[in-house]
Amino acid sequence: MASSFSPSLSSLVPLLVSLFIVVCAAGNFNQDFQITWGDGRAKILNNANLLTLSLDKASGSGFQSKNEYLFGKIDMQLKLVPGNSAGTVTAYYLSSKGSTWDEIDFEFLGNLSGDPYILHTNVFSQGKGNREQQFYLWFDPTADFHTYSILWNPQRIVFSVDGTPIREFKNLESIGVPFPKRQPMRIYSSLWNADDWATRGGRIKTDWSKAPFTASYRNFNANACVWNRGKSTCKSNSPSSNAWLSQELDSTAQQRLSWVQKNYMIYNYCSDKNRFAQGLPLECTHS
Ligand SMILES: *[C@@H]1O[C@H](CO)[C@@H](O)[C@H](O)[C@H]1NC(C)=O
Repeated sequence: MASSFSPSLSSLVPLLVSLFIVVCAAGNFNQDFQITWGDGRAKILNNANLLTLSLDKASGSGFQSKNEYLFGKIDMQLKLVPGNSAGTVTAYYLSSKGSTWDEIDFEFLGNLSGDPYILHTNVFSQGKGNREQQFYLWFDPTADFHTYSILWNPQRIVFSVDGTPIREFKNLESIGVPFPKRQPMRIYSSLWNADDWATRGGRIKTDWSKAPFTASYRNFNANACVWNRGKSTCKSNSPSSNAWLSQELDSTAQQRLSWVQKNYMIYNYCSDKNRFAQGLPLECTHS
């Protein structure tokens, strides 16, 4: 038995190869995304480890993923527009194309300095949304990067913030609620002005003297099935294979979800009886 550690070249090669793979899997904005609009206002920086979007009076900016995905567990870290961000909206979402599209949305509605952002979420299936849930966050989302994740598998969609689930949309096709599961989606993000509705219902306007407004992105990670010319290839960055494809919320996760919904949810379409006077959407009565 060898008693001392003496690395030979042949033992170092696999180590170097695995280091290289880990680095690549950690994400590179040039590899995974393309800037789609904003005329230079969106930038990929720091060896493609950081992406920034900016907004001024003339234009916002945006990017999209190069890949399309059909199911995935997708994480991104965002740091939102600091200070007076009233009227700005940072949208980060998955969407398919066409008139009966599917979509899974995170939208961050800015506010005056010190007042809370609203995290707005929605799920569209076959072109129909109207499933808004809105939250305050339990931290200042402009002070640091935080991880926003979408788990999308054939049974459920789970929105999480720093690993805490905030919303679950279950597959209830069995009772006639369409579920997004046939249309591949791309990741999109944009920073734009919506001061006609975003902050306190549009009563607070954007202060353009504070422009440009900037939001930052880093540490993209996708364990996902990439859709390529009609075929799906599922690839996982973690050795524990594709467990996410059948992942569900365990009892701890359920408790954390309830904690968020009880303490931080400020709007739930499922409780809006005035809006749905003819009766709440089907999924609201079958949880
Ligand atoms: C902004 O702050 C006000 C006052 O605290 C709050 O009512 C509102 O929900 C906050 N968020 C937005 C996006 O308006």
